[in-house]
Amino acid sequence: MAKLVRTLSQNPKCYLLHRMTFILLIALIMAFFGYGYMNPRKQRVEIIQAGASITIRKRHDLQGVELPRMVLAQPDVLTPSRKDVPVMTPWLAPIMWEGTFNTDILNEQFHLQNTTIGLTVFAIKSYLVFLKLFLETAEMYFMVGHRVNYYIFTDRPDYVPYLHLQKGRQIIILKVRSYARWQDISMHRMEMISNFSKQRFHQEVDYLVCADVDLKFSDHVGVEILSPLFGTLHLNFFFLSQENFPYERRPHSQAHIPEGEGDFYYTGALFGGSVMEVYRLTKTCHQAMMVDQANHIEAVWHDESHLNKYLLHHKPFKVLSPEYMWSEWLYYNMKNYMGDLPSSIKRIRVNVLEKHKNWPD
Ligand SMILES: *[C@@H]1O[C@H](CO)[C@@H](O)[C@H](O)[C@H]1NC(C)=O
Ligand SMILES: *[C@@H]1O[C@H](CO)[C@@H](O)[C@H](O)[C@H]1NC(C)=O
Repeated sequence: MAKLVRTLSQNPKCYLLHRMTFILLIALIMAFFGYGYMNPRKQRVEIIQAGASITIRKRHDLQGVELPRMVLAQPDVLTPSRKDVPVMTPWLAPIMWEGTFNTDILNEQFHLQNTTIGLTVFAIKSYLVFLKLFLETAEMYFMVGHRVNYYIFTDRPDYVPYLHLQKGRQIIILKVRSYARWQDISMHRMEMISNFSKQRFHQEVDYLVCADVDLKFSDHVGVEILSPLFGTLHLNFFFLSQENFPYERRPHSQAHIPEGEGDFYYTGALFGGSVMEVYRLTKTCHQAMMVDQANHIEAVWHDESHLNKYLLHHKPFKVLSPEYMWSEWLYYNMKNYMGDLPSSIKRIRVNVLEKHKNWPD
């Protein structure tokens, strides 16, 4: 090969041919770049794009808001983000799994809207013991970098633990009454959230996330969950068919869902949405529970049964996968029935605490 190249370049005719090819090539490259540089349409588009993505100016005071440039790969619309799990409901609400969303894009979007998130939690009676771990882990993983109001509903404000919070986050303690039965405490949460949504939440936050207290955050839970209305799949029933869902089946309860109906079984431990939608949800559920009470019936899973009825008729805009409500205990006991679910769980974001000897009655 080397010998052939040397012979060719020694041949004067070949040498001339090489030179001409080279010059032609240079001319072609120059023409190509020159065209791009001179073409006015292309330049204008570039300037507009740069201007739009870097600054937003207020009309009168001319104060610019500097935004970081985001260099991201173009979305690949032809390759599904996950093939092992359902990522969309039949009403086109995304089901949130690791690998289906880009946290950087979402964070930027919600920062631009200056979003404040309210996290409601009930620490009543002996459930106060769970509050410290709940708050400490929320500080590590819940909506990191965004403004957060923790709304702590409690009958004993003095026992709320003191915590050093990150910037932009605050604890607001709301004193509420207690009830004798845990079922009543659980059900009256809907009433209290609805009352406070009307009184103050709508002035203070954009979204509400309503969570049980006997949980710990163990990985990122961010703005990807936010939408006008969202619910979370209950791990127990993810792998079961509709007829096995523990819906309220007695027709004289307001939570009644007839056989053959139902999309998912949602957990009562984590739901939320815009303040307005959470107000509607909690008010509707509370009123339904009051009707049940007057009719001397209590739904089989209390507020969770009513939540399931509501979300059947008001389809959520996003559905959180069991990544957002995992139970080690349940997994241990049910793993033979779970099919491929455990291998599909790439991140466990929220853990239900195990039942232990200090578990309150
Ligand atoms: C963002 O919202 C907070 C609280 O609602 C407010 O104090 C702050 O001024 C807002 N920031 C901008 C840039 O609008
Ligand atoms: C909620 O508001 C209603 C109407 O204002 C009131 O009657 C009720 O006592 C309130 N409930 C709680 C638990 O504060």
